[in-house]
Amino acid sequence: MWAASDRSRVRAIGVSNFMVDHLTALLDTASVVPAVNQLEIHPYFQQRAVLDFGDEHGIINQAWSPIGGITRYRGTGTSAFDDPTIAAVAAAHGRTPAQVMLRWHLPQGRSAIPKSVRPRRIAGNVDVFGFDLGPDQLAALDALDTGRRGGPEPEDVTLQAYGRAIPEA
Ligand SMILES: NC(=O)c1ccc[n+]([C@@H]2O[C@H](COP(=O)([O-])OP(=O)(O)OC[C@H]3O[C@@H](n4cnc5c(N)ncnc54)[C@H](OP(=O)(O)O)[C@@H]3O)[C@@H](O)[C@H]2O)c1
Repeated sequence: MWAASDRSRVRAIGVSNFMVDHLTALLDTASVVPAVNQLEIHPYFQQRAVLDFGDEHGIINQAWSPIGGITRYRGTGTSAFDDPTIAAVAAAHGRTPAQVMLRWHLPQGRSAIPKSVRPRRIAGNVDVFGFDLGPDQLAALDALDTGRRGGPEPEDVTLQAYGRAIPEA
C-alpha cells in the first residue's frame, strides 16, 4: 500500500537476480511489491522455484540471456543455439533456435529481453508471434534444464565485488 509521503519518491521497484529468500525478505519489510525480477532464464537454466514465486506474488519474471547467450559467451559445453533438441523444433517450424527459445518463454507469461547488435537478428527475435510450440515441444525444452547457472551466484554479487563508483558529471 502506498502512503501519500511515498508517492514522490518511487513509482515502481524492479529487482534483479533475486532468489526466493531475497524476495521473501524484501516482501517481509517492503510496502511495495517489486514489479519485475530480472533473472537468468533460458532452456538450460530455468529456475522454476523463483519463477513460481514471482507468479504467485504478481512479480513479472523477466528473462535475461533468454536465448541462452551466456551459454555461448561464457559456457564450456554445447551452447543453447547449437542444442539438437532446439534445432529439431526450429527445423519443424522453419524457424531459428533463437525464435524457438523466445516462443518457449511466452506461454509462461515471461518478459524476455534478447540482445543483438545485428538488425537482421533483432527483427527475427521480434518475429515470434506467427507460430506456436506444441505441448510436446514445450516439454522437450523444459527437459533441457541443467540446473547450472551461467552467471554469478546472486549471493556473490556484493558491492565489494561488483560495485563501481559513478563519476560526477
Ligand atoms: N540482470 C542481469 O544480471 C543481467 C545479466 C546479463 C545480461 N543481462 C541483460 O540481458 C540482455 C540479454 O542477455 P544476454 O546478452 O546475456 O543474452 P542473450 O540475449 O540470450 O544472447 C545474446 C547473444 O546472442 C547473440 N544473438 C542474438 N540474437 C541471435 C540470433 N537470433 N541468433 C544467434 N545469435 C543471436 C548475440 O550476438 P549479436 O549481438 O552478435 O547478434 C549475443 O552474443 C541484455 O540486455 C543484458 O544487458 C542482464
